[in-house]
Amino acid sequence: MNAVVLLGAPGAGKGTQAPLLAERLGVPIVATGGLFRAAVRDGTPLGMDARRYMDAGQLVPDDITVRLLLDRLGRADAAHGVILDGFPRTRVQAQALDEALAERGARVAAAVLVDVPAEELIDRMSGRWICRAAGHPYHERFSRPHVPGICDLDGSELYQRPDDRPDTIRARMAQQLSALEDVIEHYRQSGVLKTVDGLQGIREVADAINAALVGTGIEPAGTTERAAG
Ligand code: AP5
Ligand code: MG
Repeated sequence: MNAVVLLGAPGAGKGTQAPLLAERLGVPIVATGGLFRAAVRDGTPLGMDARRYMDAGQLVPDDITVRLLLDRLGRADAAHGVILDGFPRTRVQAQALDEALAERGARVAAAVLVDVPAEELIDRMSGRWICRAAGHPYHERFSRPHVPGICDLDGSELYQRPDDRPDTIRARMAQQLSALEDVIEHYRQSGVLKTVDGLQGIREVADAINAALVGTGIEPAGTTERAAG
C-alpha cells in the first residue's frame, strides 16, 4: 500500500483535490479532519477530546491523531493505497506514518504540497461551505453548488465549519503553519516532495497534481506534462 500525502496550509485546497485524485487513482481518501468531525458529530469520547483543540484552532495531540490514523489504515479498503488529506501535520506524525507503511512493505510515494499564500487562505476558508454527509467542500464565490445549500455529489445539506469563524481561522494559521514547515522539510529530505501552485483554478491544480505524480510509481492515466518539483 503506497500513500500519496496532500500537504497544505488550512484552506489550501486539500479537501477539494482529494476526491478528484481518488477518482483517478481508485483508492480511498483518509482525512483526519473529517474523521475528527465525524467523531464530534457522533459525540464519541474521541470527538469530545478532539473538539477542544479544533475549536481553539490547535492541532489535536499526536498520540490521539496517530492512533486514529493507524486504526483507519488497518481497514481493508486501504490495502491497495491511500490518499492522505490533513495527515501528517507534525514531524512525529510523519515518522509514525513512515514506520506504519514500512511494516506493510509500503511507503509515501509522493507528498504533494498545494502551495497558496496566506492572504488567499483567509478568503477561501471564510467563503467555504461543506456537506454534512461527506465534507465535500464548496465556496460561495469560487465553487458554487448547482442548487444553493445542497451538495452536488450526495444531496446532503451544506453548512459552515465552526472552525471557519474569522478568529479560529487566525488561530489555525498562527498555530499550525510552523508544524507544516517541519512536515514539508521531512518530505524534502526523503526526496518525495512535489510542489504545485495552488493559486490556479481547481481544474488546473488537479492537472498539476497529476503531472507531479508522473514518475513516482503512482501515475494517473493520460498525464503527459510534468510539474515543477
Ligand atoms: P482539517 O479538516 O484537515 O482542516 P485544515 O487542514 O485546516 O484544512 P481545511 O480543510 O481547512 O482546508 P483544505 O486544504 O481541505 O481546503 P478546501 O479544499 O476545503 O482539520 C481540521 C482540524 O482538525 C485541525 O485544525 C486540527 O484541529 C484537527 N486535525 C486534523 N488533522 C490533524 C492532524 N493530522 N493532527 C492534528 N490535528 C489534526 O478548500 C478551502 C476553500 O477554498 C473551499 O471553499 C474550496 O471550495 C475553495 N477552493 C479550493 N481550491 C480552490 C481553488 N483552486 N481556487 C479557488 N477556491 C478554491
Ligand atoms: Mg479539508
